[in-house]
Amino acid sequence: MTHDAAIGDDATGDAGTFGRAVRAVAEGTDPIEAARSVLATMTPEERLWCLDGDLPFWAGLGDLGTGGYHKRPFPAARLERLGIPGFAFSDGPRGVVIGPATCFPVSMARGATWDVDLEERIGEAIGRELRAVGATLYGGVCVNVLRHPAWGRAQETYGEDPVHVGELGAALTRGVQRHAMACVKHLACNSMENARFLVDVTVDEVSLHEVFLPHFRRIVDEGVAVVMSAYNSVNGHWCGENGALLTEVLRDEWGFEGFVISDWIFGLRHAPASVPAGLDVEMPYRMLRARDLPGALERHEISWDDVDRAVTRLLATLLRFHDVLRTPSPGIDVLACAEHRALAREAAAKSAVVLRNEPVAGTPLLPLDPAALRRVAVVGRLGALRNLGDGGSSDVWAPAAVTVVDGLGASLGGTEVVALDGEDVGAAASGAASCDVAVVVVGYTRQDEGEYIGGDSTAHLAELFPGPDDPDLAQRFTDSVAADPGPDMSRAVPGPEPMGFAPGGDRLSLRLHAEDEALIAAVAAANPRTVVAIVAGSAVVVSAWDRHVPAVVQSWYAGMEGGHGLADVLLGTVDAGGRLPFTVPSDEAHLPPFERDADAVTYGPWHGWWLLERDGHAPAYPFGFGLSYTTFRCEAFAATVDDDGIVVRGTVRNTGPRRGTDVVQVYGGHQGWDAANRPRRRLLGFARVETDAGSGVDVVIAIPWDRLAVRDSERHGWAVEPGVYVLDVARHAADPAALRLTVEVAGSEPASRIL
Ligand code: BGC
Repeated sequence: MTHDAAIGDDATGDAGTFGRAVRAVAEGTDPIEAARSVLATMTPEERLWCLDGDLPFWAGLGDLGTGGYHKRPFPAARLERLGIPGFAFSDGPRGVVIGPATCFPVSMARGATWDVDLEERIGEAIGRELRAVGATLYGGVCVNVLRHPAWGRAQETYGEDPVHVGELGAALTRGVQRHAMACVKHLACNSMENARFLVDVTVDEVSLHEVFLPHFRRIVDEGVAVVMSAYNSVNGHWCGENGALLTEVLRDEWGFEGFVISDWIFGLRHAPASVPAGLDVEMPYRMLRARDLPGALERHEISWDDVDRAVTRLLATLLRFHDVLRTPSPGIDVLACAEHRALAREAAAKSAVVLRNEPVAGTPLLPLDPAALRRVAVVGRLGALRNLGDGGSSDVWAPAAVTVVDGLGASLGGTEVVALDGEDVGAAASGAASCDVAVVVVGYTRQDEGEYIGGDSTAHLAELFPGPDDPDLAQRFTDSVAADPGPDMSRAVPGPEPMGFAPGGDRLSLRLHAEDEALIAAVAAANPRTVVAIVAGSAVVVSAWDRHVPAVVQSWYAGMEGGHGLADVLLGTVDAGGRLPFTVPSDEAHLPPFERDADAVTYGPWHGWWLLERDGHAPAYPFGFGLSYTTFRCEAFAATVDDDGIVVRGTVRNTGPRRGTDVVQVYGGHQGWDAANRPRRRLLGFARVETDAGSGVDVVIAIPWDRLAVRDSERHGWAVEPGVYVLDVARHAADPAALRLTVEVAGSEPASRIL
């Protein structure tokens, strides 16, 4: 039997069994019913074939080792006889990981834009590139909330708050799904890296549903096609076999209609248990299920009904997305095309968060006036480094990377940009002293934080490896690789930082490296006009040095156009519009405990700004904070109740000297919420506006009921409590100038219904 079939083949779309089902759906048949009609024609072997990746394990692993991950998608569930296209997976989130693709700023940076429209456009660009490399499923909607900034993969998510993360993830999903299917990951509570294959997360129902799941639900409501289960276990069950999550919550409660895939290779431990639990496809190879399911079926440990449910969900999703996936794929030249690079630059500029901007000789240091600059020093080893982020599954092999040195050089034309690597601190300081301004670029690389595979965390998992590959399948795979070696990767210039897997893992410290702190001190002492740019995937504790420099910018792993984007903000071409998607504590001790090798951990309702506020710890920089180059005033804000929730309306007026960006944030909660159980205030909604000096923009922030609801663990449901809700219209979570509104939700309002 051959299983190869490609999207667009006659067999997949217009003829054959699957083609007939496609036509039936077009004529109004329910996709589930149409999927059942396809299922009825499938042999037992074909049904099982759909339950895992199509590639042989050992041959596939060998290909990965030689860069295959960046050359071709992972196919699954293709069946030529019936014209079933299956799907072809490529990862993200900072772009498409196959081919010399556009590398966007990491998700955390995009979270700092608070710009859902931009994220949707990025999703569309990624969708186009995905299709150009032959993939149909994008694995880059990563939305685990940032529970602790040490998490190695912090950069892959959007921040610490469920509402904010959910809106950004939904926007990415909307954009991608104009061209392909999207996969949201990792369900659930996957927020530690080194111990991800070991750790069991104990979490109570209220915390799970109010803190760790709302953003997944938001993206399910957006229509995401696929969910990926996490590696860790939750409440004693591995997520790939966790019926409470994959069936009771995802399907029964949320009504998810797509299919669930496992995380890669070690995503399940017991194949028979995973099927009735609700995991549809084991990824990416023929592994545990190919080995164990036939026997389990014979022994009646699982039933064919369990198998058929999974196959039906998969087929129904492919039918639902057939029209999207049939659209012609763009050519390979769409990868890193000028339009997508411009989008990457826009995102980089919008993501930079100005944390501090003090006057030097009477004027705030930023924005810099290009006309007054003859020589600019860029100091630090990261200033001229291709430093795009993690070296694991999210690694995009971009064809170029604009460093800070490149970006400032390009924007400053005649001005001399002096790059000083900072190895010799004395030389860096005296070099900086001879310049009009010094930009010190400090922080991390993929060596310090990122995805982690290795050490003791995986050694014990070798027992999950299956026996030898089916020789025919292995041969076919080897032949297909020889026939199509994939895109030309020679365009992806490595630069000084090696490409490929890096140790990464959870961060060992939330502070900068000692050399970086020493460099900042020396340069700031030599040149009072010093700006520090921090490259990191999440919060860095800066208390030891930030008061000694006039300007500090969180500038992230800002993508292949990152240097241009930072220059746009430092020089004021673009307003400083980024806002923190997490809290920066003044002391690590204010955060929840984080033990990177823990094999058991308990998650509750408290992390991030909620925890700091509960404990009365002032943050160094609050959640939602960022300085603009202009000023804004909120005018005539009011809150009303309508059928869908609370609506906050008002006008945001730019009262300063130039065009700029404001991010209005509404925080609040029920007056009676007991701070012993849950934060008294949450982020309820936000709106990002850009406006000219003097102009006002009308803002409408809709707060749907589900953001106001609380989980009732007795009923396993939700309720919006009637009574008074107190809302703060603010610029960040600790804004002393917030405008306070109250609104009463009456017992007779729709809000009092049980959701
Ligand atoms: C990661 C996933 C990723 C998968 C495939 C795994 O190691 O945890 O996030 O989607 O690899 O690249």
